[in-house]
Amino acid sequence: MVNVIVGLQLGDEGKGRVTDYLSEDASVVARVQGGNNAGHTITIKDKVYKLHHIPCGVLRGIKSLLCAGMVIDPDILISELENLEQSNIDTSNIYIDGSAHVILDLYKNIDGMQENNRNTSIGTTKRGIGPAYSAKYARYGIRFWDLISNDYSILKNKLENIVSFFNLDNSIVDEYMDKLTSEKYLSRFKKMVCETHLILQNELKHENKVIIEGAQGAFLDIDYGMYPFVTSSCTTSAGSFLGTRLNYKDINLVYGVTKAYTTYVGNGYFPAEQDCPTQYFLDKGGEYGTTTGRARRCGWLDLPMLKSSIAINGVDKLVLTKLDVLSGLEKIYYVNSYSLDGEIIDYYPSDPYAFSRVKPIIESVPGWQEDISCHNLLYKLPNAARDFCYLMEEKLNTKISAISVGPEREQLIKCN
Ligand code: IMP
Repeated sequence: MVNVIVGLQLGDEGKGRVTDYLSEDASVVARVQGGNNAGHTITIKDKVYKLHHIPCGVLRGIKSLLCAGMVIDPDILISELENLEQSNIDTSNIYIDGSAHVILDLYKNIDGMQENNRNTSIGTTKRGIGPAYSAKYARYGIRFWDLISNDYSILKNKLENIVSFFNLDNSIVDEYMDKLTSEKYLSRFKKMVCETHLILQNELKHENKVIIEGAQGAFLDIDYGMYPFVTSSCTTSAGSFLGTRLNYKDINLVYGVTKAYTTYVGNGYFPAEQDCPTQYFLDKGGEYGTTTGRARRCGWLDLPMLKSSIAINGVDKLVLTKLDVLSGLEKIYYVNSYSLDGEIIDYYPSDPYAFSRVKPIIESVPGWQEDISCHNLLYKLPNAARDFCYLMEEKLNTKISAISVGPEREQLIKCN
């Protein structure tokens, strides 16, 4: 059985803790796209773990896969592994697909330069994600197979291409050859690199549960997101088979994760931001990026976006996160629909010119004052909090499966 966890908004929905919860009875967890632009924070007891490449299931001690659709920064991955090892977490069950692409240091510089030279910057994480995917699609990308091969001529050939495409100094070829074939890399990666889809298929044959941990959110998807203010990978549920060599028939359940409000760290139009008390959400929700530390832009829950996202992802169940952050507000506002040139619409228009003209139609429901972070049963929530959840279910025509009311593992209300 394959359960997919996807972000329905613009990233940072709290997918990490949802993966942690759903992988309780799973045997494998897999990341399928993106790289260390993602950042997952998991709190267990008093310890906070920040993961960037490695899926959160590693904290449950189950097999953790970095699948073919990913781009991976080897140095950052090694330091993530070392951090886990220092906390006595077993890393021997972490595998990398040989077809995953390597983020070279020079890609980070290119990412930064491209950001600085754009008329309107995208607001990337400057981790080299875009250049690594560009290299992949331009077919000079370096893959983990290249690092563990006995024949380094292909690696050298690719580096020579990179040097000539970017007009770089030839000395870079030797520099990178030394680094990419170093003992430090080989001793780590030789035992980790494999065909991860064989592991997945074997688990499915034995009827084990596989969790696919999405990174970023639907509106950062390269095809469906708010282009060009997007990341470079497929962040929707389609990415779960594109990035693993599973096929869509293997997917049993899609969990769509949404915060009780919306946040965004890029540039571009963000209708839900209108009249939103950003500082309140920054302070109470701790809305600062795990990867970059940047303050996030904050907005109300955006139902038209969520409706489109649920449809694109084929969401079966919702997971609502950070409901506790709304406690204390007199009224809870949400974007019910958009007005586009005088017409009311309830979806996200993929035409960017139309999207730039939509005006959010904002409605409200009564808020609640009680702290709800100590509850883990739905009936214990104040009526207004429960009504807000029921409203979401009704408007989105999708059931809520769990609600988080705080960062701790235990601060989770299981609904069905
Ligand atoms: P990139 O993925 O670094 O190229 O950045 C492209 C866009 O995606 C920027 O707006 C980033 O802020 C955003 N982004 C990338 N990863 C994440 C994430 O994990 N959470 C939220 N936003 C992200």
